[in-house]
Parts: sequence; structure tokens; C-alpha cells
Amino acid sequence: MPATVIVGAQWGDEGKGKIVDLLALDSDLVCRYQGGPNAGHTIVVDGETFKIRQIPSGVLRGKICVIGAGCVVDPEVFLTEVDELESRGVSTHLVHLSGEAHLIMAWHVAIDQASERRLGKLQIGTTRRGIGPCYADKAARLGIRVQDLLEPKILRQKIEVALAEKNVWLERVYGVPPLGLEEIAAQLESFAQRIRPYVSDTSLLVDRALQEGRAVLLEGAQGTLLDLDHGTYPFVTSSNTVAGNAATGIGIGPNRIDRVIGIAKAYVTRVGEGPFPTEIEGSDQGRVRELGGEFGTVTGRERRCGWLDLVALRYAVRVNGITSLALTKLDVLSAFAELPVCIAYLQRDGSETRHFPAHQSDFHHARPVWKALPGWEQPLDDASSREGLPDAARAYVEFVEQELEVPVELVGVGAARERVLV
Ligand code: IMP
Ligand code: MG
Repeated sequence: MPATVIVGAQWGDEGKGKIVDLLALDSDLVCRYQGGPNAGHTIVVDGETFKIRQIPSGVLRGKICVIGAGCVVDPEVFLTEVDELESRGVSTHLVHLSGEAHLIMAWHVAIDQASERRLGKLQIGTTRRGIGPCYADKAARLGIRVQDLLEPKILRQKIEVALAEKNVWLERVYGVPPLGLEEIAAQLESFAQRIRPYVSDTSLLVDRALQEGRAVLLEGAQGTLLDLDHGTYPFVTSSNTVAGNAATGIGIGPNRIDRVIGIAKAYVTRVGEGPFPTEIEGSDQGRVRELGGEFGTVTGRERRCGWLDLVALRYAVRVNGITSLALTKLDVLSAFAELPVCIAYLQRDGSETRHFPAHQSDFHHARPVWKALPGWEQPLDDASSREGLPDAARAYVEFVEQELEVPVELVGVGAARERVLV
């Protein structure tokens, strides 16, 4: 199965990093197709913890890594990660960066921060890394791309044109200090020298690899419900996170994708604002957060925690074409005697639906219809296969499969890489 997409099936932070890390062992290439340093993976290799945001985690396994055209790249974050990896003995010479990817500039970060502050109570709760403003400029055809770093004269011109407008916004609209042309140009020119060797024709590279029958992993960042078109807009990220965008974001045909693995937690978390029907009320929310270590990798924020939402997960199966699921962090649920699972939504008109509402206000008003599944109330440390799980834990996984009509191929039962049952 040469081309596999890994996609978050909830609001991000489903534990994709660990599953990608596991599947990377049998892959030749690991590619990211959207997003930027808003993502964060924490990966433990031989007892050493790596936190990476911009470079695909496959770098830790010595795999060819691709940052595709659909990504946005903060050159400073990229180079900081390069330095960090190299200083810890991890080579980055197999990292390839698309020349078509857009650069996150200082003004994108400044505008992201200022606009969230200005929105106040209406804020989206972004990671404040400049993601939205960068994708907005890309769509407006005002963006600066990685390939512009290779042409110093053009680069300077583009910075000058952009800055003339951005500074008006920063000063007059947001009331923050303007940015200096010389400073930014000089910094970018020095970044350019160091980024040059990583710039490649990544579409060609991935296509060739597929022609040769090599195994390619296409790794999505964030999750389905944060997709710009299909997520819980406006509380979403600014790119398409769904599996279909793997082809676009890398530059290969959609017919090259062989399978789509959806990653879902055995419960649900969400960072940032926006509706969340299965959010846990009372002290159990804090218990799940503590047991699951649910604090953001990038921002350190507390994640909101909820019980498993099969309506949302059914939607993720649909919009991504998920062929199998990985259910992560099942062990976190070991502490609970009873596990509510949302099997349908109760709508404003009193009817029930198993399908995710297409309209924002219907989703806002949706109330979960629960089914209580029995807990297992014992650690899962002894299980070395799915069959070895306690009966109630196995039943929980089987219930998900029955409701969604998709096999659960992998089950996460602990923090270490070996604690994924195949
Ligand atoms: P942005 O991507 O920084 O613009 O943030 C937009 C929304 O996406 C906010 O609700 C963020 O919390 C959420 N978000 C962005 N990246 C991630 C991620 O990697 N995990 C979880 N949520 C994320
Ligand atoms: Mg994350």
C-alpha cells in the first residue's frame, strides 16, 4: 500500500504524531501537506523527548521528509528546529521543502496576535503563529513563497510592497508598532542562505517515489473539525485538513492515495473556542485532562475534554474517506466506572440525527444522546494484543467499529511507542 494518508478525525491532538512515528518505520517518505507551526508533535525516542512543529516527525527515523506546497513555513521556526535536531545528532539532510509553500512573515504573527486581542470575547483562540494571516495573503495573491528566498532582489521588493500595506494595518487598525524594512530584509536574507539547500521540487520527488513503489506517508496536521471548509467554521484553522487535500497539498493525483487512516482519541479534546456538544460537565473533565495530559504542545493551554462523539466521528469517516481507524489513549478511560458515548444529536425540533449538522447554528444547539458503556476500571498495561484487553475495553472498541462500520486497526493503550496494539 504505497500512499497512506493519516488524518486527525476530531479537533486535532488525537495522537497522530505517535501513530505517524510508528507507521514511519515501514515508510520511505513522510510528508506534510498543510498547516505550519500551529501543529505540535511530542515524540519520545530512546527516552529523549522531541517537540517539533514544522518538520515532519519522520526526521527522527531517518526518513525522507517533505514539507509540501500546501504548508506554511515560519523560516525562523524551521531553522530553530534544524539547529535543535542537528545539535542532538539528528541529521536534517533528508528534509525537503517545497518552493511553493508560503512563508509566515513577522507581520503575519503580529496581525494574528493583534486581531485576536481585538476580537476579545469573540476570539477564535488561534495558536497566534500567523497561520490565518499567511493563508489569507496566499489566497489574496500577496504571499511570499519559499522560492522567493532564492532571489534576493525580488525578495526585498516583495517585502517592501507587503510592508507598506501591513504597517498601515498594524499602526492604524491594531494600534501596534510598525515593522522595519531593513531589519526584516536582513533577517530573511540570512535565513535564505541557510534554507536554500532544503528547497526542492517536492511534487516531482513524491511522484517519483510512488512510481518506484516506495511507501509514502502523507501526514495531516490539526483535525477534520478544524478544516476550513468542513470544520466548525469560524472556529477552524485556515487550511483544508481533510484527506483529499493530501493530494493537492503535495501535488500528486487523488487516485494515488490508497488508504486513509483516521486517528481518533477514545474521548475528545478541543483547544480554542467553539461549540463542543460532548464537553464533560463537572469534575470528570479535570480528571480526563490530568490523566490524559491534555495541555497544548504549542501553547501550553488546557485542552477542553469531552466524551467520545460518534456523530462527529461518523462525519470524519465520510469527509475523509477513512478506511480504518486508530483509537488512541484508551488507557485514559480506565479510571471511569461508566463511559458515556454520544450516539446521536438531539436537535432543536426534538428530532434525533446521526449525521453531523451542516449548519453552524444547528450544531450549536445539538445536544448529545448518550449511551452509557461499562468501564473496565483496571489498567491496560498487561494487554499485548486487542484480544488481551479486558472485556469492557474490547467491547468499547467493537462498539465504535459497529457504529461507524470502519475497522479499528490500531489501539493506543499507553504513552510509549510499543503501547499501540495492532
Ligand atoms: P490557528 O491554526 O493557529 O489559526 O488556530 C485556529 C484554531 O485551530 C484554534 O482553535 C486552534 O486552537 C486550533 N488548532 C490549530 N492547530 C492545532 C493543533 O495542532 N491541535 C489542536 N488545535 C489546533
Ligand atoms: Mg498537537
